[in-house]
Amino acid sequence: MLLEWSEHLSIDHAEIDEEHRYMIHLIDRLYNLPDNGHCLDEMEQLFGELVDFMAIHFQHEERLMTEIDYQKLGDHAKEHDCLIATYASYFYDRGARDRIARQRALTELSMLIIDHIKTFDRPLAFFCKANQITAECA
Ligand SMILES: [Fe+2]
Ligand SMILES: [Fe+2]
Repeated sequence: MLLEWSEHLSIDHAEIDEEHRYMIHLIDRLYNLPDNGHCLDEMEQLFGELVDFMAIHFQHEERLMTEIDYQKLGDHAKEHDCLIATYASYFYDRGARDRIARQRALTELSMLIIDHIKTFDRPLAFFCKANQITAECA
């Protein structure tokens, strides 16, 4: 197992936490796929699902930031674009197909996600709480 949801990743925003939890679940499933030819389709499909879900999640956060007129929207959104580009290029350009390469890539990439949650998403949730913003981000 690479990553497991734990409370220390929680940013105390129910909806965003739930989406982070699902992202981590997809990363972990991708990490644990066995290394054989039969899994190639499943791997491609799972990876596509992960990148699509990341894009949806980032849109939710960006919509929330727009609605609450969040000052750090620009920097935060730039980081989202970077994360999507990094994930996509890692798998499509480097062709991380075998298990060792895939697990090494996912270990590095999951650190980027965790870092993003702590550095960007947590202050956003804190801002919502401090301003008693309860609107959902979806
Ligand atoms: Fe974010
Ligand atoms: Fe997030």
